[in-house]
Amino acid sequence: MRTVPDLTVVVPTFNERPNIRPLVGLLDRALAGIAWEVVFVDDDSPDGTADEVRALGREDGRVRVLHRIGRRGLAGATIEGMLSSIAPVVAVMDADLQHDETRLPAMFAILRDDPATDIVVASRNVAGGSAAGGFSALRKWGSDRATALARRFLKVTATDPMSGFFMLRRERFNEVVTQLQPEGFKVLLDMLSSSRGRWRVAEVPYDFRARRFGTSKMDSAVAFEFLALVVARATGGLVSIRFVLFALVGLTGVFVQLAVVRAMLWFATDVFILAQAAGVFVAMTTNFLLNNLLTYSDRALKGAALIRGLLSFYAVCAIGAVANVGVAEAVFAVLPQPEIASFCGAVVGAVWNFLASSAYTWKAR
Ligand code: GDD
Ligand code: MN
Repeated sequence: MRTVPDLTVVVPTFNERPNIRPLVGLLDRALAGIAWEVVFVDDDSPDGTADEVRALGREDGRVRVLHRIGRRGLAGATIEGMLSSIAPVVAVMDADLQHDETRLPAMFAILRDDPATDIVVASRNVAGGSAAGGFSALRKWGSDRATALARRFLKVTATDPMSGFFMLRRERFNEVVTQLQPEGFKVLLDMLSSSRGRWRVAEVPYDFRARRFGTSKMDSAVAFEFLALVVARATGGLVSIRFVLFALVGLTGVFVQLAVVRAMLWFATDVFILAQAAGVFVAMTTNFLLNNLLTYSDRALKGAALIRGLLSFYAVCAIGAVANVGVAEAVFAVLPQPEIASFCGAVVGAVWNFLASSAYTWKAR
């Protein structure tokens, strides 16, 4: 008979095949004496990580896989892994052996012995911890800036809210899960912020080790996702990460449009309306490409789908422009202030573009 686990270790994976067996071996040694299981949440990795987990699961009943198709994203994978657990305590750690699994028993003991503690964070930023091995100087700098920003604006007190290594009570997780943003990388920060300072946080130090096999999936998009998460949380979840990214991209479009209009008038034409049309067209195109890379990096369109997406984005924006003008005109009729009327039109146009493009251009599978 299968033993009911007291601890579920959730491990999100993308292309981590060579790390699966070594990690389970390390967990087996570290967690002796605890009834544990491990759930690998794999986003259909091309290297066959999920196959490897299934093979191992047939040898060891403590190993499970949650195989997601057509979706990408660290935070979302982590959330679903935790939801799949029946254990009273869940841990989250990376697959790549960067997180020191020998810290898990100490983290588990804190939750077992102190009922007042809700979550234990493995921190690189308390005495005894370090990030030296696992981070380049630039990543370390970025991580420190992000931590300072989060602590200041989101009133998070933990020393390492960016950590991907933590353990918490399953029932506490249920309290915040509906408020979490599945886009992005920083699910711990999102949980701590959503708990509004009600959680008692304990920290244990650990050394962030160097990755052994494979490569990091963090890229510059992650930095933008982080900033968007801060804004989304600072508004109490009123706007989503995706909307913040979409609005940021829209802002770059304004500058692209102005630059193209200027250049056209210098080099190509004397007719303003032609220059303006070219500016709008180029800005729509760069907005589309940037949104595809950044806002929708988890379901980026490629090949023929990219062309189809671009055409549908033009159509969406054309309707958005009509709505923009219509709303501005209606507002102006009751409140003849051009700036206010124009701003209202822009907001309605942006919200329309966002909602319509997420439904048609980048629809979830
Ligand atoms: N399912 C799934 N889907 N897993 C993913 C995805 C995804 O889209 N992207 C990354 N992962 C998995 C990786 O396979 C790995 O197990 C883990 O998430 C972390 O990804 P890395 O690419 O190794 O990230 P990192 O080492 O640069 O940063 C990690 O450590 C930092 C310090 O604790 C992350 O956990 C950061 O959130 C954390 O700040
Ligand atoms: Mn890593």
